Amino acid sequence: ASSETGQLMALHEDATKLYHHVLMNTEAGQSALDYLHGRGLTDETIETYQLGFAPAERLLKPFVDQRQLDYQLLRKSGLFIESQTGDLRDRFADRLMFPIRNSSGRVIAFSGRLLELMDGQPKYLNSPETELFSKRKTVFNFDLARPEIRKMGAVILFEGFMDVISAHQAGVLNGIASMGTSLTKEQIYTLERVTDQLLICYDGDMPGQKATSRALQLIGQQSQLKLGVIQMPDGLDPDEYRQKYGADKFQAVMTSAKETPVAFQMRYMRHEHALNTEADKLAYLNEMTDVLTTVKSPVELDLYLNQLATEFHVSPSDLRTQVEQSRRKKS
Ligand code: GTP
Ligand code: MN
Ligand code: MN
Ligand code: MN
Ligand code: MN
Repeated sequence: ASSETGQLMALHEDATKLYHHVLMNTEAGQSALDYLHGRGLTDETIETYQLGFAPAERLLKPFVDQRQLDYQLLRKSGLFIESQTGDLRDRFADRLMFPIRNSSGRVIAFSGRLLELMDGQPKYLNSPETELFSKRKTVFNFDLARPEIRKMGAVILFEGFMDVISAHQAGVLNGIASMGTSLTKEQIYTLERVTDQLLICYDGDMPGQKATSRALQLIGQQSQLKLGVIQMPDGLDPDEYRQKYGADKFQAVMTSAKETPVAFQMRYMRHEHALNTEADKLAYLNEMTDVLTTVKSPVELDLYLNQLATEFHVSPSDLRTQVEQSRRKKS
């Protein structure tokens, strides 16, 4: 008799195979497969990530009933929803299925995407927290990306699963994503054990830019990782960019569109503060002196101080004094 954890993992593996089979080989999965091909994903990518489809009619419950699996085990798996009377039914129905693997490559949860978005229904539905799955601790794609992160000396943090998968297909193999939240300290710790450099490549839209600014601050405070930003052009997300421009251009952006955290914040804070009035300008300069407290290299600091001083007609030494003051306040 295997442990409960082992049994839960076996159940997730069976579910992965079942959803994948429905996607690849059945009429019920045809529209989902067309959808993935329509987004430019190849069968090789679909195989690598074992993408699947949960049909509208129940699939997993009849399957486990045949096997006479233990009721308590099924309840704990997170793969079912329990009614008031204790009946179980499939949690995932009519959704494209993304298996979520742990760092050893075992499937521990799923995220299911609606093919057509509907009001009042989440685009992505995740497994709940279970014995196997902790959202805070899970780094999507870490098992596949780890050797490449080591080789490249850097990890790329994307916003969505689709961006990670799309990047992988375009030959960018060191990508990961959190589970739709900002990176937790557990996830940062996992990454720090294999690399000292993290590049943030969130969506090019405003929410993505805002999340980038926030992530730079949070991760900067919580870790020693060297940070950088990869800026997506035209407000696109990485997957949209690959679909529109192809793998070669995608790779070019990943290697050439890098920005330092300060350069990013300088640009971003400009949108936050319109810079029309003296008050706007002061607010912007205050934000920037705060950002500049994180710069360790004296030469780099000098560079930014001079840029800001020239643009806003203030003295670089006064700016430097203000940076030193906020640095003291923080420590
Ligand atoms: P596609 O539309 O399939 O390309 O998705 P995306 O990867 O572009 O997702 P988006 O930029 O909308 O969101 C990024 C990430 O946030 C997703 O990968 C999810 O992890 C998470 N997310 C988005 N929508 C939802 C939701 O409705 N519920 C939950 N729990 N997470 C979500
Ligand atoms: Mn297959
Ligand atoms: Mn987004
Ligand atoms: Mn997106
Ligand atoms: Mn997208």
